[in-house]
Amino acid sequence: MSDDPLVVFTPSGKRGRFPVGTPVLTAARQLGVDLDSVCGGRGICSKCQITPSYGEFSKHGVTVEADALSEWNAVEQRYKDKRGLIDGRRLGCQAKIEKDVVIDVPPESQVHKQVVRKRAEAREITMNPSTRLYYVEVEEPDMHKPTGDMERLVEALENQWQLKGVKTDLHILHQLQPALRKGDWKVTVAIHLGDDTHPPKIMHIWPGYYEGTVYGLAVDLGSTTIAAHLCDLKSGEVVASSGIMNPQIRFGEDLMSRVSYAMMNKGGDQEMTRAVREGMNALFTQIATEAEIDKSLIVDAVFVCNPVMHHLFLGIDPFELGQAPFALATSRSLSLRAVELELNIHPAARIYLLPCIAGHVGADAAAVALSEAPDKSEDLVLVVDVGTNAEILLGNKEKVLACSSPTGPAFEGAQISSGQRAAPGAIERVEIDPVTKEPRFRVIGSDIWSDQDGFSESIATTGITGICGSGIIEVIAEMRLAGLLDASGLIGSAEQTGSARCVPEGRTNAYLLWDGSAEGGPRITVTNPDIRAIQMAKAALYSGARLLMDKVGVDTVDRVVLAGAFGAHISAKHAMVLGMIPDCPLEKVTSAGNAAGTGARIALLNTDARKEIEETVRNIEKIETAVEPRFQEHFVNASAIPNSSDPFPILNTLVSLPDVSFNAGGGDGAGGRRRRRG
Ligand code: FES
Repeated sequence: MSDDPLVVFTPSGKRGRFPVGTPVLTAARQLGVDLDSVCGGRGICSKCQITPSYGEFSKHGVTVEADALSEWNAVEQRYKDKRGLIDGRRLGCQAKIEKDVVIDVPPESQVHKQVVRKRAEAREITMNPSTRLYYVEVEEPDMHKPTGDMERLVEALENQWQLKGVKTDLHILHQLQPALRKGDWKVTVAIHLGDDTHPPKIMHIWPGYYEGTVYGLAVDLGSTTIAAHLCDLKSGEVVASSGIMNPQIRFGEDLMSRVSYAMMNKGGDQEMTRAVREGMNALFTQIATEAEIDKSLIVDAVFVCNPVMHHLFLGIDPFELGQAPFALATSRSLSLRAVELELNIHPAARIYLLPCIAGHVGADAAAVALSEAPDKSEDLVLVVDVGTNAEILLGNKEKVLACSSPTGPAFEGAQISSGQRAAPGAIERVEIDPVTKEPRFRVIGSDIWSDQDGFSESIATTGITGICGSGIIEVIAEMRLAGLLDASGLIGSAEQTGSARCVPEGRTNAYLLWDGSAEGGPRITVTNPDIRAIQMAKAALYSGARLLMDKVGVDTVDRVVLAGAFGAHISAKHAMVLGMIPDCPLEKVTSAGNAAGTGARIALLNTDARKEIEETVRNIEKIETAVEPRFQEHFVNASAIPNSSDPFPILNTLVSLPDVSFNAGGGDGAGGRRRRRG
């Protein structure tokens, strides 16, 4: 065995012997330890910070003496004076190995560091962005060796960073000569490392050492809203988030109406393409202004969207998506350039669109699969992304199936008489006393329940304006629990229910949740057509999930993940009383927030994840609900509240569903029956 000093790196545990005088950065590189460097060991960037540990390390079989590393040097001192360095830290490119040593690489010095996510069960994001910064020293021109400045820069990148075949665009050539001379032949370049379609490319050039960073966008292009996160491609942090309404709404609220618009109007698809791209550019300007950055520093963007949005964004007529067999122009992932999509960010910025799963299951569902990773789950997980269209995934390590189900906009408050989008003033939580049948509720913007002191003051500015999606789910489920609503979805009359809040409305009844008319406010009721709309939406959702369960051959799932902005606010109990989701222990129903957006962020920050999701999507079994014979049967059963054929044994241990039945036209009380179970 050699007598060279032993170096042990933590947390990786990688170890090796190196000759005395080897810089720590060199040892790390040779062992494949994840230690960052932008300046290539020149003592400029401070990315290579490490912490040596001293003393006895029986675990590693090493004793580290005080002089295990070379002495603190002038470069480190200069850095510390200028920018500060935590006590005990050294620069890995300056500190040289003298004796056996244990060296810790702190997270901020790791290239592939993990980005912290708030949810405990969320997968971590490992940094491996498409674009990185490199500091290089370029040879000066020489009359005896006539080569261009760019050729010498490319050669320097190959020699100093082992980057081969780096290409560039004309706009970099415009900046190259002044940058090299201003930086005294030292420059920092941002290089997109390339992908299957494109070679590595210089995106930006700065004279000398560039302290700043470059950015990427993770964009969730939905039919209703477009949400973008601006991320620092060095740290992985989200520096700004912003969203706008999808300007295509003026061509139709839901996807199918937009497909019809394209079919019925010549050039309608191009109009919608223009609208979404213009909206996107406005959003990017807004987010860059908010973050106070130059838009040209945005060098990469990842988009997730449903198939219709995908086609319209790309400028492809969605005609084929409007009819069976729902063929996509391409289901593969796409690597494009921003200019091809007329996006106003860095002129050479790269665009990545996640693959689509099927004609009705888009890149947004692929992004949910990336974020929630059902393919890595030990237990059988049902992931539902609730929106105008529900994307549903069911699976575990062995197999994942996917489908989409047309839930329509009812869950977003549309088609509901007092419905509205989730905004201040909207009722979001409801409880109904099963004895008095009196409601109490909470509105967005106030934490105080309507029957508590201080409620009126707390809503003085917002008022009570309507009911949002989560409020509708709760009020209908609470009406069912309070015996105001029967399993078929009919609201009882005042006589049948014993509540004066049940008022006749046409041939049916409505439940009066709030009457603000005395103060000029709205009268907020839940009507039978409202219940019908929710029944249709939840039946579509449930029967999609049930179909996937049939395919797997199970009647229950181990856990349910509710994704999407709406999913984040749904109460698991109420969703189950309604029969939106299958029977499952409540603690096993979790919310993933905007999982599609998170999937986009993962793909933005980690290019390996792009390969991973491309592979995962290839293995997902796609189910087309429209052609499945049992879908209709499930749909009919799922129209009942909670369901007319599937039992909900776990739910039944938690709540008691009154066994009531009200006939249509029961406004006069005739024919209504009332039974209470057990
Ligand atoms: S590698 Fe840049 S300061 Fe050490």
